[in-house]
Amino acid sequence: MSKLFTPFKIGNSVIKNRIVMPPMCMYKVKDDNGFPRCFHRLHYAARSLGGAGLIIVEATAIEPRGRITHNDLGIWNDEQKEAHARLVKECVKYGAKMAIQLAHAGRKSECDDTPLAPSALKFSDEYQIPKVMSLDDIAQVKSNFINAAIRAQSAGYEIIEIHAAHGYLINQFLSKSVNKREDNYGGSFENRTRLLKEILTEMKAAVSIPIGVRLSADSWKSDDYDIDESVRLAKELENLGAAFIHVSSGGVHSNVDRAPKFVPLYQAGYAKAIKEVVKIPVIVVGLITTASEGEALLLGDVCDGVAYGRELLRNPNFAQTAMRDLGEKELIEKPYRRAF
Ligand SMILES: Cc1cc2nc3c(=O)[nH]c(=O)nc-3n(C[C@H](O)[C@H](O)[C@H](O)COP(=O)(O)O)c2cc1C
Repeated sequence: MSKLFTPFKIGNSVIKNRIVMPPMCMYKVKDDNGFPRCFHRLHYAARSLGGAGLIIVEATAIEPRGRITHNDLGIWNDEQKEAHARLVKECVKYGAKMAIQLAHAGRKSECDDTPLAPSALKFSDEYQIPKVMSLDDIAQVKSNFINAAIRAQSAGYEIIEIHAAHGYLINQFLSKSVNKREDNYGGSFENRTRLLKEILTEMKAAVSIPIGVRLSADSWKSDDYDIDESVRLAKELENLGAAFIHVSSGGVHSNVDRAPKFVPLYQAGYAKAIKEVVKIPVIVVGLITTASEGEALLLGDVCDGVAYGRELLRNPNFAQTAMRDLGEKELIEKPYRRAF
């Protein structure tokens, strides 16, 4: 049997195969209300029916000012929670395990309100100068993350992913050059990672489902953090009880001088470096488009799960194609087999 189609575990959740749909914002919310709607139920259920093992629902804001746009999903109130519950119910019928990415955009929010950030540095000229977060703001954001996690669990999600990547709020705190604070949340590695660690620890105390973290393993900028710091952080997150690490990179700066070439598997090196030091599952992502690439990454001990992003946008039935390509045709849902 291929490794791509052997089950794996995140916490106590057993995932039927190692094909992961990574979070991808669809910007399809209407009326500024953060609700998943029919579009979202169909979009995610189609990937579940198509055979993906784990679906991580797109960046979902924990408070209104934490949205990237007004069309983002939210989970800051109980009506939104009910709409998420309908989404989860629809998707799990077809076999995927459902996770949600909990997010705060920080200075990369394009919504009207003055965005929040660790320091008053804008992302680029197209963005606003953010408000420097007070200690009260930090406490409020933490509490909103925890309440969002409680709602996510009660909506039926089996797994939570904390969005600490791509230059959004938590990643802004991790960054040496975005975070210029002089209090306990800025400066040293210990201080810059404090917000993420506090959120993880407090969330773990509040919910019983597994919680993982998505990291941008390299900031792509020479005066900022690199993979060595992310390896250290991943190990510390594991010690605090993180259930998995999802390894992406970049998005922290609008001008970069150390971006990798965007060739197939371009983030695999980062995932492997992290996989070497942790025992929890590692998910790799980034221009992975074929079953054989995923299989090779698994056999090469780069990762435990393989995320196919844009490939799953192009082809909701990608997992079935992969079953055929790896000689596992009997795994394909019966009525679809004749198509292969
Ligand atoms: C349309 C779109 C929306 C995305 N939204 C998110 C998101 O909500 N959260 C996140 O962490 N990454 C997001 N990403 C990044 C993807 O999760 C993934 O890391 C990236 O597309 C690289 O993987 P791929 O080459 O397989 O597509 C998005 C990517 C795309 C194409």
